[in-house]
Amino acid sequence: MRAYKVFSVLALIAMLVAACTPAAAPTAAPTTPPQQTAPTTAPAAPATAPAASSGGTLKVAILAPLSGGQPTFGVSTRDGALLAIKQWNAKGGVLGMQIVTDVEDSQCLPDPAVNAANKVINQDKIHYIIGEVCSAASIPVSDIANAAKVIQMSPTSTNPLVTVDQNGQTKQYIFRACFIDPFQGKVGAKFAVDTLKAKTAFIMYNQSSDYVRGLAEAFEASFTQLGGKIVGKETYTNTDTDFSAILSKVSTASPDLVYLPDYYNIVNLVTKQAKQMGIAAPFMGGDGWDSADLDVAAADGGYYTNHYDPGDTRPEVQNFLKDYGAEYSGKVPDALAALAYDATNLLLTGIQNAGADDTTKVATALQNIKFDAVSGTITYDAQHDPIKSAVVIHVTGGKKEWVATIAP
Ligand code: PHE
Repeated sequence: MRAYKVFSVLALIAMLVAACTPAAAPTAAPTTPPQQTAPTTAPAAPATAPAASSGGTLKVAILAPLSGGQPTFGVSTRDGALLAIKQWNAKGGVLGMQIVTDVEDSQCLPDPAVNAANKVINQDKIHYIIGEVCSAASIPVSDIANAAKVIQMSPTSTNPLVTVDQNGQTKQYIFRACFIDPFQGKVGAKFAVDTLKAKTAFIMYNQSSDYVRGLAEAFEASFTQLGGKIVGKETYTNTDTDFSAILSKVSTASPDLVYLPDYYNIVNLVTKQAKQMGIAAPFMGGDGWDSADLDVAAADGGYYTNHYDPGDTRPEVQNFLKDYGAEYSGKVPDALAALAYDATNLLLTGIQNAGADDTTKVATALQNIKFDAVSGTITYDAQHDPIKSAVVIHVTGGKKEWVATIAP
Protein backbone atom coordinates (compact mmCIF):
# COMPACT_ATOMS: atom_id res chain seq x y z
CA MET A 1 0.00 0.00 0.00
CA ARG A 2 1.31 3.38 -0.94
CA ALA A 3 0.68 6.24 1.43
CA TYR A 4 0.46 9.68 -0.07
CA LYS A 5 1.70 11.99 2.60
CA VAL A 6 0.70 15.57 2.34
CA PHE A 7 0.70 16.12 6.06
CA SER A 8 3.88 18.08 6.28
CA VAL A 9 3.47 20.24 3.20
CA LEU A 10 -0.11 21.19 3.98
CA ALA A 11 0.63 21.72 7.60
CA LEU A 12 3.57 23.90 6.76
CA ILE A 13 1.45 26.00 4.44
CA ALA A 14 -1.20 26.13 7.13
CA MET A 15 1.32 27.28 9.69
CA LEU A 16 2.69 29.92 7.35
CA VAL A 17 -0.80 31.17 6.56
CA ALA A 18 -1.54 31.19 10.25
CA ALA A 19 1.62 33.12 10.94
CA CYS A 20 0.92 35.75 8.30
CA THR A 21 -2.82 36.23 8.65
CA PRO A 22 -4.04 38.27 11.56
CA ALA A 23 -7.39 36.49 11.68
CA ALA A 24 -5.83 33.05 11.49
CA ALA A 25 -6.38 31.04 14.57
CA PRO A 26 -3.58 28.70 15.51
CA THR A 27 -0.60 30.29 17.10
CA ALA A 28 1.52 27.21 17.38
CA ALA A 29 5.08 28.02 16.45
CA PRO A 30 5.78 27.42 12.75
CA THR A 31 8.48 25.00 13.75
CA THR A 32 6.08 22.67 15.57
CA PRO A 33 5.88 19.42 13.62
CA PRO A 34 2.25 18.92 12.60
CA GLN A 35 2.19 15.32 13.78
CA GLN A 36 2.96 16.42 17.27
CA THR A 37 -0.12 16.99 19.35
CA ALA A 38 -0.65 18.80 22.63
CA PRO A 39 2.14 21.28 23.06
CA THR A 40 3.05 21.81 26.67
CA THR A 41 2.05 25.44 26.59
CA ALA A 42 -1.40 25.99 25.22
CA PRO A 43 -1.55 28.34 22.23
CA ALA A 44 -3.37 31.59 22.71
CA ALA A 45 -6.56 30.34 21.18
CA PRO A 46 -9.18 32.59 19.65
CA ALA A 47 -12.58 32.92 21.26
CA THR A 48 -14.08 30.20 19.07
CA ALA A 49 -11.48 27.54 19.88
CA PRO A 50 -12.43 24.58 22.02
CA ALA A 51 -10.56 23.66 25.13
CA ALA A 52 -9.19 20.70 23.18
CA SER A 53 -5.46 20.18 23.50
CA SER A 54 -5.05 19.82 19.78
CA GLY A 55 -2.03 22.02 19.44
CA GLY A 56 -3.84 24.11 16.89
CA THR A 57 -4.37 21.43 14.29
CA LEU A 58 -7.08 18.95 13.49
CA LYS A 59 -6.18 15.85 11.51
CA VAL A 60 -8.39 14.40 8.80
CA ALA A 61 -7.60 11.21 6.90
CA ILE A 62 -8.65 10.80 3.28
CA LEU A 63 -8.96 7.19 2.11
CA ALA A 64 -9.07 7.15 -1.67
CA PRO A 65 -8.21 4.73 -4.50
CA LEU A 66 -5.23 6.41 -6.11
CA SER A 67 -4.12 3.13 -7.62
CA GLY A 68 -5.93 -0.07 -8.59
CA GLY A 69 -8.70 -0.46 -11.14
CA GLN A 70 -10.37 2.95 -10.68
CA PRO A 71 -7.63 5.56 -10.13
CA THR A 72 -9.70 8.50 -11.43
CA PHE A 73 -12.01 7.95 -8.44
CA GLY A 74 -9.11 8.51 -6.07
CA VAL A 75 -7.68 11.56 -7.76
CA SER A 76 -11.07 13.32 -7.93
CA THR A 77 -11.90 12.43 -4.35
CA ARG A 78 -8.59 13.64 -3.02
CA ASP A 79 -8.74 16.85 -5.03
CA GLY A 80 -12.32 17.67 -4.02
CA ALA A 81 -11.55 17.09 -0.34
CA LEU A 82 -8.29 19.05 -0.40
CA LEU A 83 -9.97 22.03 -2.05
CA ALA A 84 -12.57 22.19 0.71
CA ILE A 85 -9.88 21.93 3.38
CA LYS A 86 -7.80 24.64 1.76
CA GLN A 87 -10.83 26.94 1.80
CA TRP A 88 -11.55 26.23 5.48
CA ASN A 89 -7.93 26.80 6.41
CA ALA A 90 -7.86 30.09 4.52
CA LYS A 91 -10.83 31.19 6.63
CA GLY A 92 -9.12 30.24 9.88
CA GLY A 93 -9.70 26.48 10.02
CA VAL A 94 -12.27 24.69 12.12
CA LEU A 95 -12.85 25.83 15.72
CA GLY A 96 -9.70 27.85 15.29
CA MET A 97 -7.62 24.80 14.37
CA GLN A 98 -5.87 24.45 11.04
CA ILE A 99 -6.78 21.21 9.31
CA VAL A 100 -4.01 18.84 8.24
CA THR A 101 -4.61 15.83 6.04
CA ASP A 102 -3.25 12.35 5.60
CA VAL A 103 -4.11 10.88 2.20
CA GLU A 104 -3.97 7.08 2.02
CA ASP A 105 -4.27 4.96 -1.13
CA SER A 106 -6.98 2.46 -0.27
CA GLN A 107 -7.47 1.13 -3.82
CA CYS A 108 -11.27 0.64 -3.73
CA LEU A 109 -10.59 -2.74 -2.11
CA PRO A 110 -11.40 -4.13 1.35
CA ASP A 111 -7.88 -5.14 2.48
CA PRO A 112 -5.93 -2.00 1.59
CA ALA A 113 -8.80 0.10 2.96
CA VAL A 114 -8.85 -1.80 6.25
CA ASN A 115 -5.07 -1.46 6.57
CA ALA A 116 -5.31 2.27 5.91
CA ALA A 117 -8.14 2.65 8.44
CA ASN A 118 -6.21 0.78 11.12
CA LYS A 119 -3.15 2.89 10.45
CA VAL A 120 -4.87 6.26 10.62
CA ILE A 121 -6.95 5.31 13.66
CA ASN A 122 -4.45 3.37 15.77
CA GLN A 123 -1.13 4.79 14.73
CA ASP A 124 -1.92 8.35 13.70
CA LYS A 125 -4.77 8.76 16.23
CA ILE A 126 -6.95 10.49 13.68
CA HIS A 127 -10.60 11.04 14.65
CA TYR A 128 -12.04 11.82 11.22
CA ILE A 129 -11.99 9.81 7.99
CA ILE A 130 -13.25 10.93 4.59
CA GLY A 131 -13.70 7.87 2.39
CA GLU A 132 -13.60 5.32 1.04
CA VAL A 133 -15.09 5.72 -2.41
CA CYS A 134 -16.20 2.16 -3.12
CA SER A 135 -18.78 0.41 -0.99
CA ALA A 136 -16.79 -2.82 -0.73
CA ALA A 137 -13.99 -0.83 0.90
CA SER A 138 -16.17 1.52 2.96
CA ILE A 139 -18.22 -1.25 4.59
CA PRO A 140 -15.32 -2.94 6.45
CA VAL A 141 -13.80 0.46 7.26
CA SER A 142 -17.12 1.56 8.79
CA ASP A 143 -17.06 -1.30 11.28
CA ILE A 144 -13.55 -0.39 12.43
CA ALA A 145 -14.28 3.34 12.60
CA ASN A 146 -17.57 2.92 14.41
CA ALA A 147 -16.04 0.64 17.05
CA ALA A 148 -13.26 3.21 17.59
CA LYS A 149 -15.77 6.10 17.75
CA VAL A 150 -14.08 7.65 14.75
CA ILE A 151 -16.29 9.62 12.39
CA GLN A 152 -16.27 8.21 8.86
CA MET A 153 -17.87 10.30 6.14
CA SER A 154 -17.97 8.44 2.85
CA PRO A 155 -18.44 10.83 -0.06
CA THR A 156 -19.65 8.24 -2.52
CA SER A 157 -20.29 4.76 -1.14
CA THR A 158 -23.91 4.07 -1.98
CA ASN A 159 -24.49 0.58 -0.53
CA PRO A 160 -26.89 0.74 2.45
CA LEU A 161 -24.57 -1.39 4.63
CA VAL A 162 -22.05 1.42 4.96
CA THR A 163 -24.15 3.23 7.57
CA VAL A 164 -26.32 0.40 8.93
CA ASP A 165 -25.30 -3.08 10.06
CA GLN A 166 -26.84 -6.38 8.96
CA ASN A 167 -29.55 -5.99 11.63
CA GLY A 168 -30.54 -2.58 10.37
CA GLN A 169 -28.90 -0.82 13.31
CA THR A 170 -27.48 2.61 12.39
CA LYS A 171 -23.73 2.96 12.99
CA GLN A 172 -23.54 6.03 15.23
CA TYR A 173 -20.28 7.46 13.87
CA ILE A 174 -20.73 6.71 10.16
CA PHE A 175 -22.24 9.09 7.59
CA ARG A 176 -22.18 9.63 3.85
CA ALA A 177 -22.64 12.51 1.41
CA CYS A 178 -24.42 10.48 -1.30
CA PHE A 179 -27.83 8.89 -1.79
CA ILE A 180 -28.06 5.09 -1.55
CA ASP A 181 -28.47 2.35 -4.16
CA PRO A 182 -32.09 1.35 -3.52
CA PHE A 183 -32.91 4.92 -4.62
CA GLN A 184 -30.35 4.96 -7.44
CA GLY A 185 -31.67 1.64 -8.82
CA LYS A 186 -35.22 2.97 -8.69
CA VAL A 187 -34.23 6.13 -10.56
CA GLY A 188 -32.59 4.04 -13.29
CA ALA A 189 -35.61 1.77 -13.59
CA LYS A 190 -38.03 4.68 -13.65
CA PHE A 191 -36.09 6.43 -16.38
CA ALA A 192 -35.81 3.19 -18.37
CA VAL A 193 -39.56 2.58 -18.21
CA ASP A 194 -40.95 6.14 -18.39
CA THR A 195 -38.52 7.81 -20.75
CA LEU A 196 -36.79 5.06 -22.72
CA LYS A 197 -40.04 3.05 -22.83
CA ALA A 198 -38.06 -0.11 -22.07
CA LYS A 199 -40.26 -3.15 -21.51
CA THR A 200 -37.47 -5.68 -21.20
CA ALA A 201 -34.03 -5.54 -19.62
CA PHE A 202 -31.01 -7.80 -19.35
CA ILE A 203 -28.90 -7.39 -16.21
CA MET A 204 -25.21 -8.27 -16.03
CA TYR A 205 -23.24 -7.71 -12.86
CA ASN A 206 -20.17 -8.53 -10.79
CA GLN A 207 -21.45 -10.79 -8.05
CA SER A 208 -18.40 -10.20 -5.86
CA SER A 209 -18.84 -6.41 -5.62
CA ASP A 210 -21.15 -5.12 -2.88
CA TYR A 211 -21.91 -2.02 -4.92
CA VAL A 212 -22.53 -3.70 -8.26
CA ARG A 213 -24.59 -6.54 -6.85
CA GLY A 214 -26.64 -4.22 -4.64
CA LEU A 215 -27.42 -1.83 -7.45
CA ALA A 216 -28.33 -4.68 -9.82
CA GLU A 217 -30.79 -6.02 -7.24
CA ALA A 218 -32.28 -2.57 -6.65
CA PHE A 219 -32.78 -2.02 -10.37
CA GLU A 220 -34.37 -5.43 -10.85
CA ALA A 221 -36.85 -4.90 -8.01
CA SER A 222 -37.94 -1.48 -9.29
CA PHE A 223 -37.99 -2.38 -12.98
CA THR A 224 -40.18 -5.40 -12.28
CA GLN A 225 -42.43 -3.39 -10.00
CA LEU A 226 -42.93 -0.83 -12.76
CA GLY A 227 -44.12 -3.59 -15.10
CA GLY A 228 -40.84 -4.31 -16.88
CA LYS A 229 -39.57 -7.81 -17.55
CA ILE A 230 -36.07 -9.09 -16.84
CA VAL A 231 -35.21 -11.30 -19.83
CA GLY A 232 -31.77 -12.35 -18.63
CA LYS A 233 -29.46 -12.01 -15.67
CA GLU A 234 -25.81 -13.05 -15.77
CA THR A 235 -22.97 -12.65 -13.33
CA TYR A 236 -19.21 -12.36 -13.65
CA THR A 237 -16.37 -11.91 -11.17
CA ASN A 238 -13.52 -9.52 -10.39
CA THR A 239 -11.07 -11.22 -12.72
CA ASP A 240 -13.25 -11.53 -15.85
CA THR A 241 -12.17 -9.59 -18.92
CA ASP A 242 -13.89 -11.52 -21.70
CA PHE A 243 -17.64 -10.99 -21.66
CA SER A 244 -18.46 -12.59 -25.03
CA ALA A 245 -20.32 -15.55 -23.54
CA ILE A 246 -22.66 -13.28 -21.61
CA LEU A 247 -22.98 -10.86 -24.52
CA SER A 248 -24.07 -13.71 -26.83
CA LYS A 249 -26.91 -14.33 -24.42
CA VAL A 250 -27.74 -10.63 -24.55
CA SER A 251 -27.85 -10.85 -28.35
CA THR A 252 -30.21 -13.78 -28.24
CA ALA A 253 -32.49 -12.22 -25.62
CA SER A 254 -32.61 -8.96 -27.60
CA PRO A 255 -33.63 -6.75 -24.64
CA ASP A 256 -34.69 -3.10 -24.87
CA LEU A 257 -31.93 -2.25 -22.37
CA VAL A 258 -28.85 -3.83 -20.78
CA TYR A 259 -28.30 -2.84 -17.14
CA LEU A 260 -24.60 -2.87 -16.26
CA PRO A 261 -24.07 -1.15 -12.90
CA ASP A 262 -20.29 -1.58 -12.72
CA TYR A 263 -17.29 0.78 -12.51
CA TYR A 264 -15.99 2.54 -15.62
CA ASN A 265 -13.03 0.23 -16.24
CA ILE A 266 -15.35 -2.77 -16.61
CA VAL A 267 -17.97 -0.74 -18.49
CA ASN A 268 -15.26 0.15 -21.01
CA LEU A 269 -14.47 -3.52 -21.63
CA VAL A 270 -18.07 -4.70 -21.82
CA THR A 271 -19.44 -1.93 -24.02
CA LYS A 272 -16.51 -2.22 -26.41
CA GLN A 273 -17.07 -5.95 -26.80
CA ALA A 274 -20.81 -5.37 -27.17
CA LYS A 275 -20.28 -2.86 -29.99
CA GLN A 276 -17.93 -5.34 -31.71
CA MET A 277 -20.66 -7.97 -31.48
CA GLY A 278 -23.21 -5.58 -32.99
CA ILE A 279 -25.40 -5.24 -29.91
CA ALA A 280 -27.53 -2.14 -30.45
CA ALA A 281 -29.52 -2.07 -27.20
CA PRO A 282 -28.50 0.85 -24.98
CA PHE A 283 -26.52 0.10 -21.83
CA MET A 284 -27.44 1.71 -18.56
CA GLY A 285 -25.51 1.91 -15.31
CA GLY A 286 -24.99 3.90 -12.16
CA ASP A 287 -22.55 6.39 -10.66
CA GLY A 288 -19.67 3.93 -11.16
CA TRP A 289 -19.60 5.00 -14.81
CA ASP A 290 -18.54 8.50 -13.81
CA SER A 291 -14.95 8.97 -14.89
CA ALA A 292 -12.86 11.07 -17.24
CA ASP A 293 -11.64 7.67 -18.44
CA LEU A 294 -15.05 6.31 -19.41
CA ASP A 295 -14.71 5.18 -23.04
CA VAL A 296 -17.39 7.45 -24.48
CA ALA A 297 -17.11 5.89 -27.92
CA ALA A 298 -17.71 2.37 -26.63
CA ALA A 299 -20.42 3.51 -24.22
CA ASP A 300 -22.07 5.78 -26.81
CA GLY A 301 -25.84 5.67 -26.51
CA GLY A 302 -25.65 4.63 -22.87
CA TYR A 303 -27.19 6.23 -19.80
CA TYR A 304 -26.15 6.39 -16.16
CA THR A 305 -27.52 7.74 -12.94
CA ASN A 306 -25.30 10.17 -11.07
CA HIS A 307 -25.07 12.69 -8.23
CA TYR A 308 -24.77 16.13 -9.78
CA ASP A 309 -24.94 18.10 -12.98
CA PRO A 310 -22.24 20.72 -13.65
CA GLY A 311 -24.86 22.65 -15.65
CA ASP A 312 -26.96 23.19 -12.51
CA THR A 313 -27.28 26.95 -11.97
CA ARG A 314 -27.45 26.81 -8.15
CA PRO A 315 -24.70 29.06 -6.73
CA GLU A 316 -23.25 26.14 -4.73
CA VAL A 317 -22.56 24.34 -8.01
CA GLN A 318 -21.31 27.31 -9.99
CA ASN A 319 -18.99 28.56 -7.23
CA PHE A 320 -17.57 25.07 -6.81
CA LEU A 321 -16.92 24.77 -10.57
CA LYS A 322 -15.13 28.11 -10.55
CA ASP A 323 -13.00 27.30 -7.50
CA TYR A 324 -12.17 23.78 -8.63
CA GLY A 325 -11.21 24.98 -12.11
CA ALA A 326 -8.99 27.67 -10.61
CA GLU A 327 -7.27 25.18 -8.32
CA TYR A 328 -6.83 22.35 -10.82
CA SER A 329 -5.93 24.02 -14.14
CA GLY A 330 -9.40 24.32 -15.57
CA LYS A 331 -10.62 20.81 -14.84
CA VAL A 332 -14.37 20.26 -14.62
CA PRO A 333 -15.07 18.31 -11.43
CA ASP A 334 -16.83 14.97 -11.77
CA ALA A 335 -19.35 13.70 -9.23
CA LEU A 336 -16.61 12.16 -7.10
CA ALA A 337 -14.87 15.50 -6.73
CA ALA A 338 -18.18 17.22 -5.95
CA LEU A 339 -19.13 14.63 -3.34
CA ALA A 340 -15.69 14.67 -1.72
CA TYR A 341 -15.98 18.45 -1.49
CA ASP A 342 -19.46 18.08 0.00
CA ALA A 343 -18.36 15.32 2.40
CA THR A 344 -15.49 17.46 3.68
CA ASN A 345 -17.68 20.52 4.13
CA LEU A 346 -20.31 18.43 5.90
CA LEU A 347 -17.75 16.91 8.24
CA LEU A 348 -16.11 20.24 9.08
CA THR A 349 -19.48 21.94 9.55
CA GLY A 350 -20.43 19.10 11.87
CA ILE A 351 -17.28 19.68 13.92
CA GLN A 352 -17.92 23.42 13.92
CA ASN A 353 -21.52 22.91 15.06
CA ALA A 354 -20.44 20.43 17.74
CA GLY A 355 -18.10 23.07 19.12
CA ALA A 356 -15.41 20.55 20.01
CA ASP A 357 -13.17 17.82 18.64
CA ASP A 358 -15.46 15.27 20.29
CA THR A 359 -16.70 12.64 17.89
CA THR A 360 -19.83 11.81 19.88
CA LYS A 361 -20.87 15.45 19.77
CA VAL A 362 -19.91 15.66 16.09
CA ALA A 363 -22.08 12.62 15.30
CA THR A 364 -25.04 14.34 16.95
CA ALA A 365 -24.31 17.58 15.11
CA LEU A 366 -24.17 15.75 11.79
CA GLN A 367 -27.43 13.94 12.53
CA ASN A 368 -29.09 17.36 12.88
CA ILE A 369 -27.35 19.18 10.04
CA LYS A 370 -29.00 21.01 7.18
CA PHE A 371 -26.39 21.83 4.61
CA ASP A 372 -26.57 23.35 1.11
CA ALA A 373 -24.09 21.13 -0.69
CA VAL A 374 -23.03 21.06 -4.35
CA SER A 375 -24.97 17.82 -4.75
CA GLY A 376 -28.13 19.24 -3.13
CA THR A 377 -29.43 20.21 0.28
CA ILE A 378 -28.43 17.56 2.77
CA THR A 379 -30.30 16.45 5.87
CA TYR A 380 -29.92 12.98 7.38
CA ASP A 381 -32.54 10.32 7.91
CA ALA A 382 -32.29 7.87 10.80
CA GLN A 383 -29.92 5.67 8.77
CA HIS A 384 -27.48 8.58 8.19
CA ASP A 385 -28.38 8.68 4.51
CA PRO A 386 -29.00 12.02 2.77
CA ILE A 387 -32.27 12.35 0.93
CA LYS A 388 -31.63 14.07 -2.39
CA SER A 389 -32.16 13.92 -6.13
CA ALA A 390 -30.26 11.93 -8.73
CA VAL A 391 -29.50 12.95 -12.29
CA VAL A 392 -29.48 10.86 -15.45
CA ILE A 393 -26.64 11.36 -17.92
CA HIS A 394 -26.67 10.35 -21.59
CA VAL A 395 -23.41 9.35 -23.24
CA THR A 396 -23.77 10.69 -26.74
CA GLY A 397 -21.50 11.99 -29.50
CA GLY A 398 -18.42 11.83 -27.29
CA LYS A 399 -20.12 13.84 -24.53
CA LYS A 400 -21.90 13.19 -21.26
CA GLU A 401 -25.15 15.12 -21.34
CA TRP A 402 -27.59 15.73 -18.53
CA VAL A 403 -31.06 14.48 -19.47
CA ALA A 404 -33.07 14.34 -16.24
CA THR A 405 -33.14 15.10 -12.55
CA ILE A 406 -35.23 12.71 -10.51
CA ALA A 407 -36.30 13.57 -6.95
CA PRO A 408 -36.81 10.98 -4.19
N1 PHE B 1 -21.24 4.42 -5.53
C1 PHE B 1 -20.03 3.67 -5.75
C2 PHE B 1 -19.89 2.63 -4.66
O1 PHE B 1 -20.59 2.67 -3.70
C3 PHE B 1 -18.82 4.55 -5.83
C4 PHE B 1 -18.87 5.67 -6.83
C5 PHE B 1 -19.61 6.81 -6.60
C6 PHE B 1 -18.19 5.61 -8.00
C7 PHE B 1 -19.68 7.87 -7.51
C8 PHE B 1 -18.25 6.64 -8.93
C9 PHE B 1 -19.01 7.77 -8.69
O2 PHE B 1 -19.08 1.77 -4.71
